[in-house]
Amino acid sequence: MAKHSLPGTVDTAGMDIRHMPDSVLIRPSILYFGTPVVLITTRNPDGSTNITPMSSAWALADHVVIGLAGGGQGLANLLREGECVLNLAGVDQHAAVERLAPTSGYDPVPAWKREVGYRHEADKFALAGWHALPSLAVAVPRIAECPLQLEARLCHALPRPIEAWRATAGGYTVLELEVLRIHAHTDIVVPDTQHIDPSRYHPLFYVFRHYFGCGPRLGRTFKAEV
Ligand SMILES: Cc1cc2nc3c(=O)[nH]c(=O)nc-3n(C[C@H](O)[C@H](O)[C@H](O)COP(=O)(O)O)c2cc1C
Repeated sequence: MAKHSLPGTVDTAGMDIRHMPDSVLIRPSILYFGTPVVLITTRNPDGSTNITPMSSAWALADHVVIGLAGGGQGLANLLREGECVLNLAGVDQHAAVERLAPTSGYDPVPAWKREVGYRHEADKFALAGWHALPSLAVAVPRIAECPLQLEARLCHALPRPIEAWRATAGGYTVLELEVLRIHAHTDIVVPDTQHIDPSRYHPLFYVFRHYFGCGPRLGRTFKAEV
């Protein structure tokens, strides 16, 4: 692979470019640079529950922003019902998550997904071997086995019908959710506080299409409360 050199027009004044690490310009097919696996539970039109594994999610205060591709059952359910539970997967759930990976609650599965190996699955709880628990503020159940379960309601949906990205899927939608209730397994909560103990919480990460746990703690920020 050819290494790139900086064009003569690039201003390098004040930079020591002799000591920069080797790098190449690349165009990977995906940019999943490492985010936690979230299992979104949503209510199907017949009242049953769908589970959508996803990882394009980030949180600020009590709001979470997620991205969902078109053609999925979770997206259709969320837009129709306006609520969901964001169940954060733990490291020990990676095999079950991968059993759900090639499935969709959408029937029939869109052609572009069928071609890459997806099939329809109506009962994702049974396939994963997980159990449903009732929620408090939303109608859709949560996943008992997930260490963190965030009940949420939809605030905004921004469709992004991007032509260049699987036009048949209708692009993707950016969804902003407000978290209404947070359930945490007792063993990841600092006793008698509202805090998650980060040394006992072991989230599952999705990194360039591979599953990882997080390694040992390296340090803490000046704002850490526990
Ligand atoms: C670990 C993992 C992460 C994923 N992340 C996303 C994502 O962030 N956004 C998305 O639209 N699909 C994501 N997917 C793909 C969906 O799970 C897939 O489209 C699935 O068929 C959706 O299910 P549903 O149609 O029942 O909602 C991910 C899949 C896996 C296994």
